[in-house]
Amino acid sequence: MQTHQFDVVIVGAGGAGMRAALESSGRTRTAVISKLYPTRSHTGAAQGGMCAALGNVEDDNPEWHTFDTVKGGDYLVDQDAATIMANEAIDAVLDLERMGLPFNRTPEGRIDQRRFGGHTRNHGEAAVRRACYAADRTGHMILQTLYQQCVKQEVAFFNEFYCLDLLLDHDLSSGEVSDGQEVRVAGVVAYELATGEIHVFRAKSVVLATGGAGKIYKTTSNAHTLTGDGMAIAYRRGLPLEDMEFFQFHPTGLAGLGILLSEAARGEGGILRNADGERFMERYAPTIKDLAPRDIVARSMANEVREGRGAGPNKDYVLLDLTHLDPAHIDAKLPDITEFARTYLGIEPYTEPVPVYPTAHYAMGGVPTNVEGEVLRNTTDVVRGLYAAGEVACVSVHGSNRLGTNSLLDINVFGKRAGISAAEFAATAPWVDLPENPSSLVVDELEEMRARPQGERISDIRRELQQTMDTNAQVFRTAESLTTCLADVRALRERYSRASVQDKGRAFNTDLLEALELGFLIDIAEVVVVGALNRRESRGGHFREDYPNRDDAGFMEHTMAYRRPAGTVVDSPAAPAPAGEEIPDPAPGELAVVLGTKPVVTTVYQPMERKY
Ligand code: FUM
Repeated sequence: MQTHQFDVVIVGAGGAGMRAALESSGRTRTAVISKLYPTRSHTGAAQGGMCAALGNVEDDNPEWHTFDTVKGGDYLVDQDAATIMANEAIDAVLDLERMGLPFNRTPEGRIDQRRFGGHTRNHGEAAVRRACYAADRTGHMILQTLYQQCVKQEVAFFNEFYCLDLLLDHDLSSGEVSDGQEVRVAGVVAYELATGEIHVFRAKSVVLATGGAGKIYKTTSNAHTLTGDGMAIAYRRGLPLEDMEFFQFHPTGLAGLGILLSEAARGEGGILRNADGERFMERYAPTIKDLAPRDIVARSMANEVREGRGAGPNKDYVLLDLTHLDPAHIDAKLPDITEFARTYLGIEPYTEPVPVYPTAHYAMGGVPTNVEGEVLRNTTDVVRGLYAAGEVACVSVHGSNRLGTNSLLDINVFGKRAGISAAEFAATAPWVDLPENPSSLVVDELEEMRARPQGERISDIRRELQQTMDTNAQVFRTAESLTTCLADVRALRERYSRASVQDKGRAFNTDLLEALELGFLIDIAEVVVVGALNRRESRGGHFREDYPNRDDAGFMEHTMAYRRPAGTVVDSPAAPAPAGEEIPDPAPGELAVVLGTKPVVTTVYQPMERKY
């Protein structure tokens, strides 16, 4: 085992992690550990843009942006956080421009802006051009730009290091640490892919920036690596996860594959049609049609298919029509996604509509933080020195449904804030002692998994997990489908405890790491499903067919999910479910997902019916 010491350790080298690193490394000794080479991080797959009310091509202002974000999130957004994000968006874009990001330009040389779902002028009057973009490679350009700046600033990177544990000075998982008591972070434990060696990173501040968990689903736009590591590690250490039942399904995944086709396609004029050629979004969102927020578009598409108006031999997708656009415009603005359609489906988007269907895309929930990026351990207390930013975090600017392009913005605004906070804390805080045997938990788990002589294959269990999530916890959900899903997830957890890996070696043992990642996925899937069962209403990305309306009286609150012995009373516990709708208990002896709540911060915008 090797031990390292840095003032700040950032886990994850996507946009949020590297934006944090740029701030932190200019102030104090900083390391970034990442399970990937940084430029392979999933931020690179973000396509259509990063929004800011620059007003470069149309009148716009940050207040409209804040309103759209709150309404888009179906009023579960914390409005203080959304205001900060919209106000700081302009500087966030200009920071990237100064770093050299090659944004598309207007003929006058300004940063160009395009339309995106749910972004409107004057509180919903019409779609507004707010997304700054670099063709359909905006995330790729952000990632490259931030990485170049990190290299210039000599940030210490530990690439292909898998973070497997978070070290705290108190054990929160028993639920016995009282409210108000100081809890500090002490560092993280990581596994080096090349050698199989364990590394302990001692740190005064840790920033979690590990991204999302889209691989709980089969049909997803997410890369193979999006396994919810940071969320699961925090959760296992007794920290809550917030609003995990809200998972975003991006409307336009390539049908049958889930590969992302940017919403920019509709921002540039693309139209969704059903098998009859009808522009069906006119019926669901008469004002902004195809540019309604994603939850509404995804549900409308799924509904067209359910009602028999789907296209294709199995009537199981709808069509994204770009054929009326000038091919030169398509080439200039949407080069990558049109190439995806050609490569993966053999479709020529100049002349043929592209088959599309919703794909699991983004976790609105995550590790709860305040607006400085500090991680909460209950509704009010923070873990001192622990921060989170980006998709792993829930600040909560996205509420129950994120608007497209607010994610690249979120990572820049709150990545920067977390980096500054982490460095400032580390500058004055005393060191915390590492726990005794800091890596014992990780080593025990690894060795137990490696030593199991035979058992089920990890890939079989993962496939079944993803399948039940796709079938039972997708765009439409019911108590019945979710209960089936929960039973499946728990049965898979039991099988997982007996699974084995084929590769028993140390060097580049991806088999072993995928096994550990599957453990994270199972934990996250259970939290998603329990939260979805408990939320007996429909809001944003969470649609319960058995409770089709939003219920502000009962559920205008964040969900906080804690891993605790069943029956533990947590801070601000969730109201018990009505008789007959109780969430089934886990097997005796297993830790349960225990639910609490947290108030939504409402400053200006009172909840209204959401119409577009
Ligand atoms: O459609 C897209 O380009 C995705 C953007 C986002 O998720 O923000």
